[in-house]
Amino acid sequence: MSAAPIGVFDSGVGGLSVLRHIHRMLPSESLIYVADSAYAPYGDRSSEEIHARAHAICRFLIDQGARAIVVACNTATAVAVASLRATFDLPIVAMEPAIKPAAALTQTGVVAVLATQRTLASQQIERLVQRHAQGCRVLLQPCPGFVDQVERGELTGARTRRLVADTLQPLLDAGIDVLVLGCTHYPFLLPAIRAVVGEDLTIIDPAEAVTQELQRRLTGHRSAAERAVGPATLRFYTTGSIATVGPVLDALWGRPAQLSGCLDAQT
Ligand code: SIN
Repeated sequence: MSAAPIGVFDSGVGGLSVLRHIHRMLPSESLIYVADSAYAPYGDRSSEEIHARAHAICRFLIDQGARAIVVACNTATAVAVASLRATFDLPIVAMEPAIKPAAALTQTGVVAVLATQRTLASQQIERLVQRHAQGCRVLLQPCPGFVDQVERGELTGARTRRLVADTLQPLLDAGIDVLVLGCTHYPFLLPAIRAVVGEDLTIIDPAEAVTQELQRRLTGHRSAAERAVGPATLRFYTTGSIATVGPVLDALWGRPAQLSGCLDAQT
């Protein structure tokens, strides 16, 4: 029998950018991924809806046997992580926009955080800026359309390139030298982002730090019954249309993912 799995979820396919780090760094862990594609993007949803979705998915993951959950979505983290932690009695690891390392790395004193409007308006961002970035200018940049392009699997086409260039050029003009990816969808746009900002600008993807935090939280939480004695398994679920989400998920994951429906999944 393999160990109880780690549950990972996002509004859609963006959280795969976190899942791939977890899978690479913790290859013996069984993983369950939920793409809440029927409700993506969360950035366009009300706080109440995001709460309800995050709670329903955590319940589903726990019913599947998850022993820890990763909220691989900055918007769900900003809106719902406190109530998830207050409700569910298992380790819940969530995204943290990397404002502290960005402030430590900048030479120009100007950094930018790319995220949804809902994430940028959150107390989490306000607190991080207050605590760690007093000495520098932090440009909080919403990116309408980025999540939709990733959900459609359109990572490098002309429309995506134009959208990314129009969003990032003003940040370059303002003198940024560090860019934080504050949404788990954005790492999939890295080639389009690099094409605009060049190779020298520092780009921080918090997925690695989140995986390290998960590793730290799992240490000491593992009972004898949870120790892996079989091969790790990977399971992928969506609440959206399997016919639509499946090909995009396969492309982003890099191999066939055998997607199943869950919760109120469309057929
Ligand atoms: C979204 O669903 O709008 C964005 C997901 C994220 O913030 O990571």
